[in-house]
Amino acid sequence: MGLIRSMRCPKCGEESSAKTTFRCASCSAILEVNVDLGHLKRSDLFNLRKSSDMTIWRWFDFFPVERRSSIVSLGEGYTPLVRSKRLAERLNIPGLYLKNDTVLPTGSLKDRSNGVGISRGKELGFETAAVISTGNAAASVAAYAAAAGLKSVVMVPAGTSPAKILQARAYGAVVVVVEGSFDTDVTKLYQAAVREFGWYDCLSSNPYRDEGKKSYAYELFDQLDEHVPNWIIHPTAGGTGLYAMWKGFQEFSSLGWAHRMPKLVAAQSAAAAPIVAAFEKGLADVEPVEARPTIAESIQVGNPVSLGWRALEALRFSKGTAVALTDEEILEAQLLVGTLAGIFAEPAGAISVAAARRLREADAFQRNDIVVCNITGHGLKQPSAVRISDEELRPIPPTLAALTSRVERGFDQAKP
Ligand SMILES: Cc1ncc(COP(=O)(O)O)c(C=O)c1O
Ligand SMILES: [Zn+2]
Repeated sequence: MGLIRSMRCPKCGEESSAKTTFRCASCSAILEVNVDLGHLKRSDLFNLRKSSDMTIWRWFDFFPVERRSSIVSLGEGYTPLVRSKRLAERLNIPGLYLKNDTVLPTGSLKDRSNGVGISRGKELGFETAAVISTGNAAASVAAYAAAAGLKSVVMVPAGTSPAKILQARAYGAVVVVVEGSFDTDVTKLYQAAVREFGWYDCLSSNPYRDEGKKSYAYELFDQLDEHVPNWIIHPTAGGTGLYAMWKGFQEFSSLGWAHRMPKLVAAQSAAAAPIVAAFEKGLADVEPVEARPTIAESIQVGNPVSLGWRALEALRFSKGTAVALTDEEILEAQLLVGTLAGIFAEPAGAISVAAARRLREADAFQRNDIVVCNITGHGLKQPSAVRISDEELRPIPPTLAALTSRVERGFDQAKP
């Protein structure tokens, strides 16, 4: 049984026994779940590693869900940890691994969060799950709500392209387009609606949901045969992944299962890099920035208000770093991951490889370092990012000569 000891404020330390209040009554910081691991022993690792459960739920005891019967699962977790010889050689990083989260049920890492978040929401008796998002989070909340038998409402700002919200609609979400800006108008209305209608908030202001990405830590440790990677590079927006991986490895460490911590790296688009900026300035908290348009649309977040400061702590405690990448670097990484590793990632999902490349060029890695790049979203989420020329789309006459010249040119064009 998962044991939730309490909710605790990470800023002022106040404990709370309320289950559906997500903010500290004293200082209004987002609370964190205190999961009781006291019953786990050194020897339990052996049995857990032998389990045939190939989802995040192998690590049920670590998640804030009280009863196994509450679990709503679409098979999330245990995504392939891929060794790509060709990409490793090209980047000159012998210990490179790709954690391929493009194959998660709705095509992005958000399923790690919502698998846990929606299971807990159902357990607490909520009837409607809500989120504001233009992409991956919306689809994921909608899918898990569908599986749980909850209704879902997705709010997006006016101007969001319909393609972005179609996946959520396909899972049955009510999609509401709201006039005004994302950071002020849409967010204010969302918060008022959550209070008014008692909806289950599925943003990173939900501490249960934020625990889901701890699964990265457990899985990587297991897949690497009880080794902790030297580096984990994560495409970063709200900072949930960095915060959660740090917490997950700390839990394994406190149980005596893991014997060191990984260096964590935030990979952000230069057009929306508040965590990189705060890290470089040595700030304790993130200063919001105006996010500019970027090819890495899924991580275009200017104000990681809930967990930005926790992500910064994780970067510093881990002796990691933060890297801002240009759109050109991000697109090159997407191309390399596709053509050398055989993984089709959306640009935001491949940005970790762009950061690995940059760090390699700066000689940051030791020769034997295990370097894991999280690949966090499927390329089909944003097909327009793939470059294809008019010439390639133009039909050829059905002759062998035309085919020969087309293919010869094509091999040239497709070279990474
Ligand atoms: C594809 C993709 N990668 C990474 C992230 C990063 O999220 P976080 O920093 O909250 O882990 C997101 C979501 O915002 C995403 O959609
Ligand atoms: Zn507090």
